Amino acid sequence: MRLYLDTADSDEIRQAVAWGVCDGVTTNPSLFAKVSGSAGSYKERVQEIAGIVDGPISAECVSRTADALVEEAREIASWHPNVVVKIPIDAAGLEAISRVSAAGIQVNTTLIFSANQALLAANAGAAYVSPFIGRLDDIGQDGVTLVAEIVEMLDRYHLPTQVIAASVRHTQHVTACASVGAHIATLPFPVLASMLQHPLTDKGIATFLADWDRAQAQQRSGAESVAR
Ligand code: E4P
Repeated sequence: MRLYLDTADSDEIRQAVAWGVCDGVTTNPSLFAKVSGSAGSYKERVQEIAGIVDGPISAECVSRTADALVEEAREIASWHPNVVVKIPIDAAGLEAISRVSAAGIQVNTTLIFSANQALLAANAGAAYVSPFIGRLDDIGQDGVTLVAEIVEMLDRYHLPTQVIAASVRHTQHVTACASVGAHIATLPFPVLASMLQHPLTDKGIATFLADWDRAQAQQRSGAESVAR
């Protein structure tokens, strides 16, 4: 399963790229709002991100009619060759997904909360569908089960659309999405960083370092005895 970073924060992206585990980035208006004080325009921030990570970067459309979405999608797609246009799934969005995808622009269909929405987006030509698992969990439904249903459905009908597990809240979500075959998970930076952590790793490193120091001290005292 490939890992994207779900952020508009360039420093977080630089760190994930340095770790070698950032296959792409997803942004949305809420994530941009978090950094907008220091970010310049949305276009400038997306282009900055494109200079940091060599992979798909999703940037979201905010227009509310099909014609306006198509125009906005064409504009956003022109920002950089790696930009993927995010379009929410509703009636205007579905028409825009169909028209934009037919024009060769990659679409990440966002705000997916059902398998039927994913099927519609896939049949309309979307390159990606993003089920929001954390927001489903929040209302007492199982987000990972939805990811599993969509993966199985796309696979059964040999549809090329890829599933991006979105709205990921914790590390167990990541493992569960990988287990059910999500192609990609897009993670807030703290979730990615948490995947590294294990107390036994920290304890093991501390023990190895202490033993190494002890071994060095023993070698030094052995060498001193021979010299005497
Ligand atoms: C990514 O494409 C989504 O916009 C994002 O994961 C939504 O996450 P949230 O539910 O934490 O806002």
